[in-house]
Amino acid sequence: MDKKLLIMVAAVCLVLGGVTCASASNLDTFLEKCGACHKKSAQAAPINPADKAGVVWVKYFKRGRHPVDLSTSVSPDDMKTVLNFLQNHAADSDHPVAAIIPK
Ligand code: HEC
Repeated sequence: MDKKLLIMVAAVCLVLGGVTCASASNLDTFLEKCGACHKKSAQAAPINPADKAGVVWVKYFKRGRHPVDLSTSVSPDDMKTVLNFLQNHAADSDHPVAAIIPK
């Protein structure tokens, strides 16, 4: 890891406070794969892990509730990473995260 990247990771950890640094890369995947559409003034409303309980996130995608087909833009591996992140910071988790994507 070069110095610049280390500083960036440290900054992300600082900004997110309660979010553990170990999940920084999962956060990146969430922001990249979901945040592309889900942010202020984009095509979809902002979302955050604490919007739902952990099991609800899993069921949401397992039952194909998402209104847009993500199979071409989000690989199964990335989807696993995102679901992990959502569950770790869901409403009923030890570290709920409600404001990564500002409303
Ligand atoms: C290609 C754009 C796009 C991507 C990428 C995308 N979404 Fe969505 N999503 C939408 C649209 C459009 C809607 C329906 C409109 C809305 O809810 O604003 C939606 C709706 C949702 C809803 C329902 C919101 C509600 O209030 O009921 C959830 C939850 C959601 N998306 C989660 C995710 C997650 C998690 C990811 C990343 C794995 C993701 N989305 C990636 C476009 C996208």
